[in-house]
Amino acid sequence: MGPAAAAGRSEELRNLIAYHNRRYYQLDDPEISDAAYDLLFTELRQLEERYPELVTPDSPTQRVGAPPLEKFQPFPHPSPMLSLANAFTEEEIRDFDERIQRFPGRAETIAYVIEPKLDGVAVNLLYEHGVLVTGATRGDGTTGEDVTLNIRTVATIPLSLGGNGGMPIPERLEIRGEIVIATAAFRVLNERRLEAGEQLFANPRNAAAGSLRQLDSRITARRPLDFFAYAIGMAAETVMKTHWEVLAALKSWGFKIHPFARRSDEIEECVQGYRELYATREELSYEIDGMVIKVNDLALQDELGAVSRSPRWALACKFPAYQETTVIEGIDVQVGRTGALTPVAIMTPVPIGGVTVSRASLHNQDEIDRKDIRIGDTVIVQRAGDVIPEVVKVVMSKRQPTALPFTIPAACPVCGSAVIRIEGEAAHRCIGIACPAQIKEHIVHFASRGGMDIEGLGDKMVYQLVDAVLIKDPADLYFLTAEQLLALERTGEKSAGNLLRAIDGAKNPPLEKLIFALGIRHVGESMAKLLARKYAVLEDIMAATVDELTTIRDVGPEAAKSIVRFFQEPSNLQVLTKLKTAGVAPINRQFSAAAESSGALTGKTFVVTGTLGRMTRQEAKARIESLGGKTTDSVTRKTYYVIAGTSPGSKLDKAKTLGISILDEEAFIKLMESS
Ligand code: IVH
Repeated sequence: MGPAAAAGRSEELRNLIAYHNRRYYQLDDPEISDAAYDLLFTELRQLEERYPELVTPDSPTQRVGAPPLEKFQPFPHPSPMLSLANAFTEEEIRDFDERIQRFPGRAETIAYVIEPKLDGVAVNLLYEHGVLVTGATRGDGTTGEDVTLNIRTVATIPLSLGGNGGMPIPERLEIRGEIVIATAAFRVLNERRLEAGEQLFANPRNAAAGSLRQLDSRITARRPLDFFAYAIGMAAETVMKTHWEVLAALKSWGFKIHPFARRSDEIEECVQGYRELYATREELSYEIDGMVIKVNDLALQDELGAVSRSPRWALACKFPAYQETTVIEGIDVQVGRTGALTPVAIMTPVPIGGVTVSRASLHNQDEIDRKDIRIGDTVIVQRAGDVIPEVVKVVMSKRQPTALPFTIPAACPVCGSAVIRIEGEAAHRCIGIACPAQIKEHIVHFASRGGMDIEGLGDKMVYQLVDAVLIKDPADLYFLTAEQLLALERTGEKSAGNLLRAIDGAKNPPLEKLIFALGIRHVGESMAKLLARKYAVLEDIMAATVDELTTIRDVGPEAAKSIVRFFQEPSNLQVLTKLKTAGVAPINRQFSAAAESSGALTGKTFVVTGTLGRMTRQEAKARIESLGGKTTDSVTRKTYYVIAGTSPGSKLDKAKTLGISILDEEAFIKLMESS
């Protein structure tokens, strides 16, 4: 493609991409697939790589960020960014209306627009001929910082304004609005940071502010920044007469407007809106810290003017604070169902935004150390939006010499087993297999298909058994009785019988399944197989050292340490002994050549047919094989025994014609026991 054609095509692509961005981000109604969008994007990027002179400031390729700046340049706002006077009560909202009513030359009725007061970072966007040229922070209201490169990465800020069918676009235009992060996106962002061991953001506003003030815009590009427009600054030649029309124009140009925005000429309706927002603030997707009420008529706004940098025509109606100070009375340690220990601050109860807060997770030891939280400290706690309460920081000026530093205990507070911290993980973990905090999860895992494969023992049944204190560890399963099961709700003779049979049938699992079932951290199904390939019996694995284990391919040092620690824990050894007492004896097929030659049924071929009463056919076959016997599906002259349950079918007939010995279930069990 020649330069002229490339210029034409790149412009076409920019327009197309801008159009699809609008459909996707503003209207939430995409017309093309992500893949089709990516194709357009790639084509444009390739064109721009070949012809760098075609890169325009509003090209969507410029959203991905640029190499870091040394510092931000100051940006004098073409028109000042005012701040708002605050109100904290409904009375003050009514007073505001009265002041305007008394103002000479006012309109007949005064119409207002109410909008949520978004809790983010205010920015000023300068567009020239519809193209974004500068984005700046508020600064002191007169001069801000030029953060254009970062602003460009925000998907919901149009790089060029859409004019189709909307209001005409002024030649030079300032757009005012708020950079925010949705609560849900904020939570994901912080979860990732927690996993990566990075410092957490206190709230969505801090996260938005921190992201916007990154010198490296490639970092900003990875943050879930969003933008809502709520006003225009300087735009001399507009034809708009009301703020409501301004909002409509902003929308037509491609900006997101908060859906709550309403117009009303009744101050009581506005007060009602304030109540409504306050009551539903936690359900909103974005954090807000109040409501803004604005006079709708732009001419009246002009007449009203401003006092001390706050316009007389607008008011910020704030909500009660979400932060309070209180005292840390103690730190509890909770053990989660996966064994992770979570320190929880116990605080003098304090009401925050209508809810009494007395506990807050401190996440992990690193967080406690980073914030230097000690028992007895006075702290700032916050409950932002539907975000759970958290300790923001210690008020150091109030620290007492008696304040006690805190360390996560070395023994599990629930079961006393050892607590370890695996390298690269933030959490400390209890390694006790019988830890009551984890027992439900452990037993569900123990019985799962990849583990001991006990049919009919799903999570509901396990929860019921644990709650009824019939089992305290996985080995207890093998000591359950029919009477105990029948006493449970919704368990009849039949299901109790089935469950006991399934448990009994799970006494001779392949060794790798038992290893996996133990739930040793870092030992998944494939690692369990590797271990069973190397070691003939469980006792050998229990005796293995870290050095020895790491000689196995794919067993890393963390897994090896985890295995050794597991078998060092006395409470785990107790459970293993109990399993043995119950008759749990895994079979290692990989080492079964030896077993076969010495087994009592060696060289004998069995056929199992029909329905057995006390075990499944699968289990019967496993028992035969564990004693060195072979099983096949068809009866031949070589068949040694046919084990026949009820409704055995043609296999029994064939056995009879061939004169092969037939055993019923009772006889089979006797044979097994005597072998
Ligand atoms: S209007 C002159 N509308 O509140 C009026 N401001 O102190 C300009 N804010 O820094 C502001 N939501 O960051 C307006 N819907 C909204 C707003 C809003 C949040 C912030 C803005 C400004 C502060 C006012």
